Amino acid sequence: MNTNNDEKMVILGGVKLSGEVRISGAKNSAVAILVASILVGDKCVIENVPHVSDIVDLIEIINGLGGRAEFVGEDVIEVDCSELKSHVATGERVRRIRASSYLMGALLGRLKRASVDLPGGCNFGVRPIDQHIKGFEALGAYVDIEYGTVNITADSLRGNTVYMDVVSVGATIDVMLAAVLADGLTVIDSAAKEPHVVDVANFLNSMGADIRGAGTDVIRIRGVESLHGGTFSVIPDQIEAGTFMIAAAATGGDVTVTNIIPTHMESLTAKLEEMGVGIEEFDEAIRVYVDKPKLRRCNVKTQPYPGFPTDLQPQMLALLTAANGTSIMKENVWENRFEYVPQLNRMGASINVEGTDVAVVEGGSKLIGAPVCATDLRAGAALVIAALMADGVTEIYNLKYIDRGYEKLVEKLRGLGAQVTRRCVNPMPEVLRAVNE
Ligand code: EPU
Repeated sequence: MNTNNDEKMVILGGVKLSGEVRISGAKNSAVAILVASILVGDKCVIENVPHVSDIVDLIEIINGLGGRAEFVGEDVIEVDCSELKSHVATGERVRRIRASSYLMGALLGRLKRASVDLPGGCNFGVRPIDQHIKGFEALGAYVDIEYGTVNITADSLRGNTVYMDVVSVGATIDVMLAAVLADGLTVIDSAAKEPHVVDVANFLNSMGADIRGAGTDVIRIRGVESLHGGTFSVIPDQIEAGTFMIAAAATGGDVTVTNIIPTHMESLTAKLEEMGVGIEEFDEAIRVYVDKPKLRRCNVKTQPYPGFPTDLQPQMLALLTAANGTSIMKENVWENRFEYVPQLNRMGASINVEGTDVAVVEGGSKLIGAPVCATDLRAGAALVIAALMADGVTEIYNLKYIDRGYEKLVEKLRGLGAQVTRRCVNPMPEVLRAVNE
């Protein structure tokens, strides 16, 4: 996998996607489970892991801490943290991914101390960690942030009740990690219910933890002495599945998305049906097809699960440019997640951002290929969808973002008939340089 930024994606639009695409394991689940294996003093085999750059970064980070993690098959990682000694996770790799925040909870739980550089991740405005810290402190830890590094220490960790002020996936998982080996009962109230929160709890339980209620508002974690090794398979990626479903609808195609959990897709399938897209559900697959000349407009609000995922907001906005009439997208999770909109407008879309959290889409304008620049992971996916819909050739720059979360995207799209390739960048067009900086 080439994860540098020396390539661009070149897409010739206008092809209706058709056929079957197999969805990979969930990136946001796999990153948390990989870090959770730090708590296990034994070998874990993690299956259905997507080969994306965030995972590659985490493998390096775990190896740097004295654990041993490696891909032993295309989508299988073996990780053994029995010898892990260091509590210090600092440096560029730690700073560039959001999932490194889980190192705080896992190292605290395992070693009773952690020094972790403030996590990075896609830029949607401020990305606070106050709820993580509140949880660690409730368990008896002392937290101090110095020069961009979070230092956490505890003599011992004791279960407590943690009420989350905002529904946070990251804080819910992090507190769960810190509590698994603590003394007594921890209750997380107002917990996130995303499928990957449940998956992390299932992973830990399969290694001997005692976590109940994951997938509801209240998670109860009774601390255990230790965890044992084992084998676990990561759930399918809800967001990758949604991206392909939206791409199918956007190109007027007929695509069956396989290896998925259809209930995870309900908020999206409801919106697609509202737009007039055909949906056929199977046990582990969904067929998405379009048999109408024009899709209907619709309004969408992002919400924590089971609401419409913020991580499908940019892709959905690209689709809404093709609908009849005016649609409104309201972003309720992140304070600033419309930075990519000018890139869609460069392709002929008519989208107006009002304030920081509302985008108004005048549908029906035909998109035209142009050089564009991914500003974050899902924005990159939205540009890919727009490019597939557009007349002519689109060049997408800044592929490092897309490589963080989509496994074999070009190969999968080609399998559905798309005309897409990756080429060397030489050089990036002047007009995009400012976006890239
Ligand atoms: N928040 C706080 N305080 C905290 C933590 C979060 O105020 O301590 C706020 C955030 O500012 C945000 C909201 O709570 O407004 C939700 O943030 P959350 O903690 O749920 O996000 P996250 O854990 O940092 C994960 C995904 C994101 C996804 C969000 C929301 C991973 C590695 N990342 O981030 O995924 O957008 O949940 O569902 O799981 C992506 O995959 O493209 C991506 C960005």
